[in-house]
Amino acid sequence: MNIKEIRNDFPILANSNVVYFDNAATAQRPVQVLKAIEDFYKTTNANPLRGLYAWSVGATDAYENARSRAARFINAADDAEMIFVRNTTEAINLVAYSYGMEEVNAGDEIVISVMEHHSNILPWQMIARAKGAVLKYIEPETDGTITVDMIREAVTDKCAILALGQVSNVMGVANPVKEAAKIAHEHGAVILVDGAQGLPHVKTDVQDMDCDFYAFSGHKLPGPMGIGGLYGKRKLLENMQPFMRGGEMIEYVHRDSATYAELPHKFEAGTVNAADAAGLAAAMDYVDNIGYEAMEAQENEIVKIIMEGMKDIPHVHIYGPEDPALHHGIVTFNIDGCHPHDISSVLDEENIAIRAGHHCAQPLMEYLQEKCAMEFRATARASVAFYNTQEEAERFVAAISKVRKWLGFGD
Ligand code: ALA
Repeated sequence: MNIKEIRNDFPILANSNVVYFDNAATAQRPVQVLKAIEDFYKTTNANPLRGLYAWSVGATDAYENARSRAARFINAADDAEMIFVRNTTEAINLVAYSYGMEEVNAGDEIVISVMEHHSNILPWQMIARAKGAVLKYIEPETDGTITVDMIREAVTDKCAILALGQVSNVMGVANPVKEAAKIAHEHGAVILVDGAQGLPHVKTDVQDMDCDFYAFSGHKLPGPMGIGGLYGKRKLLENMQPFMRGGEMIEYVHRDSATYAELPHKFEAGTVNAADAAGLAAAMDYVDNIGYEAMEAQENEIVKIIMEGMKDIPHVHIYGPEDPALHHGIVTFNIDGCHPHDISSVLDEENIAIRAGHHCAQPLMEYLQEKCAMEFRATARASVAFYNTQEEAERFVAAISKVRKWLGFGD
């Protein structure tokens, strides 16, 4: 992997002094993705799936080709199992409303973990409340590890849905989702895997994982914002009610009733986001060209430099596993006496961008505060991508070693 060449693909990075370490929030996009979006609007922009003229047919083709690309990227068995949505949040809400509302009954259990992003908590809180079900939490080890035994203990015959992140957006650890799917199925439950932080780092094969639903966002991949995917097994999707109702998701509408379109259009009401779908397909091509193995090696190298450098700095606490290779690009930390927002502001003075706060994972913040005696209910988080460099990691470590001084501490 030629990192110089790769960085030249990213206009925002090419001429900038900014160390962008907030990739888990959103990645930067290469020219190939920007060009795919621009090409769509410049050459074939029209409303897809509706018009009977060349531009509209071209727009439909661009959209459906992107669907095939996305289905192939995660090895879905069938293009119709790939529903385009805005993002992971929308995908999980779709499953909660269209599957959970119908299939979860009073007394059933919905099993999630304390480590989930709010997007994989709130929809299930809503379903549990509406259906009289129980929302049950798996507690990870303090380094974020969830073992197969923990999942086995939590999932019983009462479980209707198991919903787990593929990779934690705070701790960076990957969950044993393949084993989790097996356990869920042994108990007659379905499993949803939140792939928002997984797909950018882990080669994913939904058939091999045998998950029932898989949700992901394009913008972390590095594709456009506003496009993401929900994979679902055909049999399940076919039996589900639509999530949104309106244009293009119908077969026929009468005054008092309607029948719905076949998959996948049943779940794609309204004008679809074809331009960004084309951008997402280009992002998938880009990732495949580099290859997950090369991306992972680069990310691990950067994380290693960061973790080893920070180990020697007094007052710094890193969360997650000891092994940098288990972090999937994420280093979450705190510095004694310094609120994470202050750490982030100090780093911004050095042109280093990180995320600070609760990371949309407040139950995990509460858990870490209690179990790891965390000073604030918040952390700082550096998250790296394959286009980050060793020099950037070294600049980051040097800046971290000065944070306490900048904030007025004597050491
Ligand atoms: N979920 C994104 C993050 O972890 C926004 O930053």
